[in-house]
Formats: sequence, C-alpha cells, structure tokens
Amino acid sequence: MDRKFWNKVSANYNKEIFNVSKSDKNGIIKSWIKEVASPKKTIADFGCGVGNWLPLLSPQFKQVFAIDFSSEHLKQIEKNYTKLKNITCKNVDLTKTWKSNEKFDTMLCVNAILNAELSKRKIIYKNIYTNLKQKGHLILVVPSIESVIFSNLTFEKCNPKAVLNSTKTKEKISKTEYINLKHGIMNIDTLPTKHHLKEELFTTLTDFGFKNIKIDKVEYAWDTEIDNVPRSLRGPYPWDWIVMATKK
Ligand SMILES: C[S@@+](CC[C@H](N)C(=O)[O-])C[C@H]1O[C@@H](n2cnc3c(N)ncnc32)[C@H](O)[C@@H]1O
Repeated sequence: MDRKFWNKVSANYNKEIFNVSKSDKNGIIKSWIKEVASPKKTIADFGCGVGNWLPLLSPQFKQVFAIDFSSEHLKQIEKNYTKLKNITCKNVDLTKTWKSNEKFDTMLCVNAILNAELSKRKIIYKNIYTNLKQKGHLILVVPSIESVIFSNLTFEKCNPKAVLNSTKTKEKISKTEYINLKHGIMNIDTLPTKHHLKEELFTTLTDFGFKNIKIDKVEYAWDTEIDNVPRSLRGPYPWDWIVMATKK
C-alpha cells in the first residue's frame, strides 16, 4: 500500500477503509488513550489517515501532531477540522528515517504498520521509538494473525458447505504467497498486509527497547468479518491487537 494507493482512496476513505474508532466494541482504545492523556502532553498520531481520532485527541492533549504520507488525507484534515485549534499536520513517509524537531509525550499508531516488507516495518518502529520522549507512552493497534484464523474457523463452522468446497479446490498458491503466509502477510482486499502474533508483537517491541508492555484485544462485531452472521453467534469476537508500551 503505497502513497499513490492512499492518495487515491482518500476521497472515499470512510466508505472504503475499515473505521477502527467506530467499530471498537468495548471502547478499549478510547479508554487507554484517556489513561495516558493530559492537557500538558503532546501526542503524535502516526499514520493518522483522514483524522478520525483527532476529535477525541484534541480536547485531551496540549498539542496533536497528525502525521501521514498522504497529502490528500492531510488536506481533508485541514479542511474538516478547522475548529480544532491544536492540530499540526506533518507529511512524513514513516518508512524513511525521520527525526522530528520535538519529541512527543505520547504516540498513537492505529493500523498503520501494515507493510509486507520487514525492513520498512523496522524503520517505522525505529521512528516511533526515537521520536518518543523518555518514559513516553505508545498505543499501537495492529491486525492479528490469530483473529484471521479464528474468523476463518468460525466461518466454516457456520457454513459447513464452504468447508466441503474448500477441500475440493484445485487452486494453488504461488511461492510468494506461501512465503508471505509464513510471515503473517495476508491479503486484505487483495493487498498483502502484515498481521501480528501476540508473542511476535511483544518480542518486536522489546527488541526496540520498549518496556511495561501490555497487550489486549480491540474487539469488533462478527459482521465486520462474516456475511449473514447467525444471530446466535457471540464472542470471542474478531479482533486487532492493542499494545501499550513505554520508552525506557
Ligand atoms: C488503515 S489506515 C489507518 C488510519 C488511522 N490510523 C485510523 O485509525 O483511521 C493507514 C494509514 O497509514 C498511512 N500510511 C501508510 N504507510 C505510511 C507511511 N509509510 N508513512 C506515513 N503514513 C503511512 C496511510 O496513508 C493511512 O492513512
């Protein structure tokens, strides 16, 4: 998903891109943000999209930095959020090493570390770490591998015929798809997207120097994953991983 893709999708963003802030069933992201918020602190929203988190962040922080590499997203923010006086937009490609003029007290990064290439993801993690103040908090949301597998199993349980059809398939996967699968790269709408295991997330953040790592689920309704959901279908629900961590 390169800059061109995101600029193109920008005009129809809220129709085409899954809205995490509206779909978070238990409001866990909002409550974790509240836990670390303060009118004395700054926050950077890394990969902020069209700014869906800004109305929540703006009243709770001194200054909010909306950071994205899509100029179209940032134009929408400048147009739609004129009433929020403490927003600063920055056009940054987070897969390139970046040192901000000032370090941030807090960072939010919701489903923006999606790159299939490990080297690019490493630079994003490094950018998060270096631009965060000592003892600063990171709140990170990423897609979960476990959830994809669990959702698929649940789909098959609800649709036994689909299991029969899938065992009869003659479809083959390519070498690239096989290698991707082994690394948690699964397609979302045909786009190869990095999904994380809980343990992988923990070790990745530890390797970058984060501590006090707490991981939980952002749960979503079943109809975000499965069509014609049986009424009886309850939890566990599909989820993304949410992480809170501090810089050493
Ligand atoms: C799935 S959207 C999530 C947007 C927002 N965090 C939200 O929760 O609504 C991913 C966002 O990451 C941005 N993004 C992807 N790669 C990026 C990069 N290399 N540098 C900066 N932003 C990037 C995209 O432009 C897009 O706005």
